[in-house]
Amino acid sequence: MIKKLSTILFIGVLLFADNAYAQIPSLKDVFKNDFLIGTAMDAEQIEGKDVAADKLIKQQFNAVTPENCMKAEITQPEWNKYDFTLADKLVEFAKKNNMKVNAHNLIWHSQLPPFMRHMQSADSVREYFVNHITKVASRYDRKVYSWDVVNEALNEDGTLRKDIFLDKLGDDYVVEAFRLAQKAAPHTKLYYNDYNIEQPKKRAGAIALIKKIQAAGVRIDGVGIQGHWKAGNVPMKDIEESIKEFSALGIEVMFTELDLSVLPNPWDKVTADVSVTAKGSALMNPYTKALPDSMQHVLAKSYADLFALFLKYKKDISRVTFWGVNDGQSWLNGFPIKGRTNYPLLFDRNFKPKSAFYSVIATAKNQ
Ligand code: XIL
Repeated sequence: MIKKLSTILFIGVLLFADNAYAQIPSLKDVFKNDFLIGTAMDAEQIEGKDVAADKLIKQQFNAVTPENCMKAEITQPEWNKYDFTLADKLVEFAKKNNMKVNAHNLIWHSQLPPFMRHMQSADSVREYFVNHITKVASRYDRKVYSWDVVNEALNEDGTLRKDIFLDKLGDDYVVEAFRLAQKAAPHTKLYYNDYNIEQPKKRAGAIALIKKIQAAGVRIDGVGIQGHWKAGNVPMKDIEESIKEFSALGIEVMFTELDLSVLPNPWDKVTADVSVTAKGSALMNPYTKALPDSMQHVLAKSYADLFALFLKYKKDISRVTFWGVNDGQSWLNGFPIKGRTNYPLLFDRNFKPKSAFYSVIATAKNQ
């Protein structure tokens, strides 16, 4: 009898939880007339091993970006040997669920295959560059919606970053990357993606780069502003200026990796350069148990302000993608200091919507 009762109770709780879940508003529905709402997906989620995440992704998002599995170190782990296992799974998942894939990325100085890291020969770098873009982009033409063709080519002062591609291929390599991508993937949108390009000097560099691509008669469809910012300190004016200036170039503007860190910064600069690290300390990791209400509030306010701005420019903005599904999965628990507890997204570690989620929904409803 007792056993029976507890089974009924258990099923009741499950049904209640399921129901409560179903009643959460959906970001993709709320913004359906404005812009796509995306999330980055990690390997576990792509493999369908994270059941709670799976459900939330289907409920909330209509666009997905692979967090890592379409980066070169995964797709071409050895010279001329490709591995598309996870990338194909992501494409299949998106197709089944009617989501757009923004493939990320073709050319980037980070997460390069090991064989490329110390490549000395310019001929070999060129061979890699042409083959990688051609092989990977053509495989996914008509299967993905878009590619981040080049990621993070710029320094903070707007000059080109001195990475292996600039070093071995020269100043025109970004134009060349787009030219090759255009040939290999004629049906796919092609984007330039970077962090801090809302900042005036770096923005000017990005604009010059985009104009150079356009002047060469090569197609570029949009620009992705990554959007790794700090709660309570989002550069709203710079973001607004950037939307205006980038869209004046006749291309789509997107926010492609949105998250708002609530933790102290080890430097006075804001960077998303994955190659930099800093040392941890208790002072740098203040919210190991929970995020205090006062900080929840700051986070919610920043998200509300940002989405109000996005809505103001919805005709210019085609997509807003969060860099992860929930706080537990965010890369900001490990960057730039390992082992911290960060809270940068709209869903908490138990996949429950935070007040930031409701403030974003309220912003949409008030428009
Ligand atoms: C990050 C991933 O989230 C991490 O899992 C990985 O270890 C490093 O890269 N800018 C980008 C993304 O364009 O690809 C980076 O993603 C975050 C910064």
